[in-house]
Amino acid sequence: MDTLLLNGGRPLRGSVPISGAKNASLPILIATLVAPGEHLLGNVPRLVDTSSMLSLVGRIGCPSIIGANTRIDTSRVAFCEAPYDIVRTMRASVLALGPLLARCGEAHVSLPGGCAIGMRPIDQHLKGLEAIGCRFELEGGYVHGRVDKLRGAEFRFDVVTVTGTENVLMAAVLAEGTTVLDNAAAEPEVEDLAAFLNGCGAHIEGAGTSRIVIHGVSSLKPSPKVHNILPDRIEAGTYLVAGVISQGNVRCENVRPADLEPVIRVLREAGAAVECGDTWVSAGADGRVHAVDIETAPHPGFPTDMQAQLMALMCVAKGTSRIRETIFENRFMHAAELLRLGAQIHIEGNTATVTGQPQLSGATVMATDLRASASLVLAGLAAQGKTEVLRLYHLDRGYERLVEKLSAVGAVVERGQEGRPAPRREVA
Ligand code: EPZ
Repeated sequence: MDTLLLNGGRPLRGSVPISGAKNASLPILIATLVAPGEHLLGNVPRLVDTSSMLSLVGRIGCPSIIGANTRIDTSRVAFCEAPYDIVRTMRASVLALGPLLARCGEAHVSLPGGCAIGMRPIDQHLKGLEAIGCRFELEGGYVHGRVDKLRGAEFRFDVVTVTGTENVLMAAVLAEGTTVLDNAAAEPEVEDLAAFLNGCGAHIEGAGTSRIVIHGVSSLKPSPKVHNILPDRIEAGTYLVAGVISQGNVRCENVRPADLEPVIRVLREAGAAVECGDTWVSAGADGRVHAVDIETAPHPGFPTDMQAQLMALMCVAKGTSRIRETIFENRFMHAAELLRLGAQIHIEGNTATVTGQPQLSGATVMATDLRASASLVLAGLAAQGKTEVLRLYHLDRGYERLVEKLSAVGAVVERGQEGRPAPRREVA
């Protein structure tokens, strides 16, 4: 199994090109189903998750070609199913529900099951789709959905759910009449999905806010223009923290600074030097930053997908930080591994109290989920000596060309194999 070998303790300096957003690509790749024909998508990141989604779209009967752009032909749909073998590797496959119901009037999607960070129920997805005329049965670990006619309705989510909002949005675009979604997710990725669908002839207003209005249309067709996926604000946030935790300075290129506002605010509060241009953001520090308290929240609050990365930074900050995770019930798995690097963290319910240390020291640590593994890489970059991060497949789900991008800003990092001693490399 692949591992990542890091030799930490040196400042990172330079520019990192940011890829397209994983969490915008996944819904948009499957949303192509609601507009039969050939779609052209730009800036789709080459990740394990995006290739899983393309395999799912392929299993449904829609071939794709990955080149400078990603080309998907959804003229024909052969199966209305998201099978367990794909869903269990990528829970975002549940996003097939809305598009298949809108396209075929039926959908058979394996229940995603939980994951390391929580139960991850989909009750809100089903309630929202039922509100616009869908009916569901749970049988054999699958959700079996049917709809005769999608009809617009008013629906308020009980909890803010990103993929729940996206699932209902992707069906409501073809409903008869108007659908109003209240307490909807306002993440930039939802906004990008709506922009893609509007490019195909949908009529969606208010995406990017908590109230989305969808005026249903009778049919959609592929946009004549390439839709470029928006930049990944979580990848960018991760590299900004790398610049700060290593006491260097990293500049992220091809980003939308406004999407990073919640992260920029916290980094500045901690004393990091953060600068923004039109399409770039840089962050650095020439010493230890000071501890800040954070609480995760739906956008425009502090993103839960950046909580683990900030915890790594707080492990070497001056003072004590309180980190409250309000979105997922079990998103502190990285804490136990950070302790192995010398961090001081106390967990009480959904609050982690982090007492910053002057220094961490390298060790072997194990990744448990995507953002936890990013947190361990960041801590390893700051730690003195060698760190090996096991179960690298978690990172490969969400970080394109990680070794190349980190090496370009001066990190001593390479992929290894578990159980095989790291090649002896005298570091210059
Ligand atoms: C999306 O997951 C992201 N994934 C996650 O990113 C992200 O952490 C999360 O939103 C929150 O921002 C994708 O977009 C593919 P939720 P999602 O539904 O939609 C509860 C990453 O690292 N809930 O917004 O699955 C749920 O249990 C991943 O890139 C219900 O109760 O998350 C959670 O507590 C990890 N019922 C809260 O809502 C439902 O029907 C938010 O979950 C749905 C969700």
